[in-house]
Amino acid sequence: MSNGAPPGQAGRGPFDVAVLGGGVIGLAAAWRFALAGVTVAVVDPSPGHGASWVAAGMLAPVTEAHFGEEPLSELLLAGAAHWEDFAAELEAAADMRVGYRRCGTVVVGLDSSDRRAIDDVLAYQRSLGLDAVRLSASECRGLEPALSPGIRGGAHVPGDHQVDNRALLAALLEACRRAGVEFLARSARRILLDARGGASGAELDDESAVAAGMLVVAAGARSGSLLGHVGGSVPQVRPVKGHIVRLRGGPRAPLLSRTVRGLVQGRACYLVPRSDGSLVIGATSEERGFDGSVQVGQVFALLDDARRLVPGLDELAFEEAICGFRPATPDNAPYVGWTTTERLAVATGHYRNGILLAPITAAALVALYAGAAPPSPMGHFGAERGSHLALGARGALGEP
Ligand code: GLY
Repeated sequence: MSNGAPPGQAGRGPFDVAVLGGGVIGLAAAWRFALAGVTVAVVDPSPGHGASWVAAGMLAPVTEAHFGEEPLSELLLAGAAHWEDFAAELEAAADMRVGYRRCGTVVVGLDSSDRRAIDDVLAYQRSLGLDAVRLSASECRGLEPALSPGIRGGAHVPGDHQVDNRALLAALLEACRRAGVEFLARSARRILLDARGGASGAELDDESAVAAGMLVVAAGARSGSLLGHVGGSVPQVRPVKGHIVRLRGGPRAPLLSRTVRGLVQGRACYLVPRSDGSLVIGATSEERGFDGSVQVGQVFALLDDARRLVPGLDELAFEEAICGFRPATPDNAPYVGWTTTERLAVATGHYRNGILLAPITAAALVALYAGAAPPSPMGHFGAERGSHLALGARGALGEP
């Protein structure tokens, strides 16, 4: 069988690399592989969708730094450092804009206990050397006049930016096509192993198979179903549902000029303004498995919290309410590296930071393929740690 398919199974390839999953991680990796001269196929029935499509596109190494996650925080900062060049190269390659905006973020608390909670996080972030400055309520409103007069203050985080995730996905798809990436519009069902137990390809849902010298599982929250068939030590990934609401506004008088992240009586929410005047509001964080229903109560609560921070959003037009599944792991950090199965790598579990970490993850995978070390500190986030972890406190409850 020259193409690695089991007897009686039509085969495609062999490719140097097959990437199972065409979200932001899979597409960024496929594009970078193709640029490196590697033949690559992306297996996904609907590339450019999934959690990457639902996301808000925040690039937030500082405001996603949580207590006890210092190594992850270091990775987020390293990931952010890749973004400027990545966006410029991608825009040139695809001849499309990705809406990368170095807009910064303002964090606000609605009441005094929200304000205290923000102060605690701020002290932690500053202890890590992160750039965040405490602001009074009037200083917050000086930066963003649409904020409610009722807010109690917050912080300015100049280094947390954004990209238009949907423009990014469109550009990645185009750049992949131009670079010669092959798209197989199927779902991967299971990893195929050769007689020596190494990965040789994947079986697809049309009974065909794709053969490749390296398999990369980048299937987000659904990675577990592929890895579960392989045996050995495999990373644990579970879905954490998030609702997002999109509102349409006018480009001439945008409500906000930078991302606003708020605490509203202990509940987190964010409002991400696009340059066309639209607003992306997120996000819930729910442990409900793969329940894909968009629930009225969650959408209502999200909008209610957001309008308590920015009352003027009542004037915007409703566009969309949607939900997706973050690929969460027991320690909230991704798995990027080789598994114990030969030729099988993973790039999954990016949880709340998939868009931010896509460029550094792609660079790490290309390095692995070449037998080189991944960019620092990605080497600490290999697949092998997955089997040793028990569900951590935050992971078990699923609440950031
Ligand atoms: N990165 C934001 C979220 O996961 O909601």
